[in-house]
Amino acid sequence: MLESNIALSELAMQAREELRSNFGVASTLAAAAPGRVNLIGEHIDYCDGFVLPLAIERYIVIAARPNDSTVARIGATGLNPIELDLSDRQEIGEPKWSNYLRGVIQGFMELNYAIPGFDAFIVSSVPLGAGLSSSAALECCFATLLEGLVDTVLPTQEKALLAQKSEHDFACVPCGIMDQFASTFGVKDQLILIDCHSGEPEMVPFSDPSLSIMVANTNVSHDLSDGGYGARRKDTEDGLTLIGKESWRDVTMNEVYAEREEMGDRIFRRSRHVVTEITRTIEAVEAFKKGDFSNIGTLMAGSHRSLRDDFEVSCDELDLMVGLAKEIGFEGGVLGARMTGGGFGGSTVTLCRTADVEKIAAQMHQRYQAQTGITPLLFATRPAAGAHLL
Ligand code: GLA
Repeated sequence: MLESNIALSELAMQAREELRSNFGVASTLAAAAPGRVNLIGEHIDYCDGFVLPLAIERYIVIAARPNDSTVARIGATGLNPIELDLSDRQEIGEPKWSNYLRGVIQGFMELNYAIPGFDAFIVSSVPLGAGLSSSAALECCFATLLEGLVDTVLPTQEKALLAQKSEHDFACVPCGIMDQFASTFGVKDQLILIDCHSGEPEMVPFSDPSLSIMVANTNVSHDLSDGGYGARRKDTEDGLTLIGKESWRDVTMNEVYAEREEMGDRIFRRSRHVVTEITRTIEAVEAFKKGDFSNIGTLMAGSHRSLRDDFEVSCDELDLMVGLAKEIGFEGGVLGARMTGGGFGGSTVTLCRTADVEKIAAQMHQRYQAQTGITPLLFATRPAAGAHLL
């Protein structure tokens, strides 16, 4: 039960057709930006850690055409169209999804770009609320579209940070930099190792056709703005303050243990996650660089356990999905599995042998559905290209 990924060209055609049928105009430009899945390095992008995501073959595409006004009229599949006044400062407003766009417009205004009025239509193959960064994909796609409309190309890092600021200020999620970096820096057949201390991405090749990355969306949804994410971030800040260091990168496990009593159980476990996850990610990067995956299952399992028990961002459905992959095991073609993204629902990532991926997906799909009554969504992906104009 592996769902195939719709080709980007097909998605672009859909966006153009929708623009024509909804606004009666032919598109003159279109932008695409992918979602992401993170292989390892979870909830440590805002702790100066390392993360190892990839852009996935699931995209948001926006087709557009200038309309000789100062208003943006924007439609999206299954949603009522919105109108945004481009001549004035943007404020948080309704509907909720419009805030991802309002924030990006405001970012361009603060860079002193005058955005001409336009009509646009948004289509997506990134599952929503699945921990696959549909919101970052929307921000980065829209920012790329605006680049086209104002005829500029921002440095990639600046565009990613503008999108992240939009998420902070307009969607009110205090996210790290992983999602927007993955959506903008993505390169075909490359994992993106992000050093979140220096803000520098480094590409790690992932081109061995015998290995596949499979995403399993539990179809249990989370909402990162409901406080769980911000609370975790605050816990890590409190932990670091108690340890008395400037950056998690300089913290050892011994230092965490030394503050255990002072911290109390919760902050101690959050801190233990951060330090151990940084170590696991560094080890996993070595494995990918060497092409030696003997340890990857242990590292991914350790990451999942730490996120479940110490960071408390997993849920029954994610644990079940990871357990199902584990049951299939190495003999069945599974190299490793863990939850991915912010958590509280969403998706798992399974590294597996390509020859077995169909069979693995069929088993996980069937067993997950039988045990939960929920139909999951499973698809395989290779690292894809980041945000670009089409
Ligand atoms: C969300 C955030 C990211 C990152 C992950 C957890 O996706 O947007 O910045 O913190 O959660 O790793």
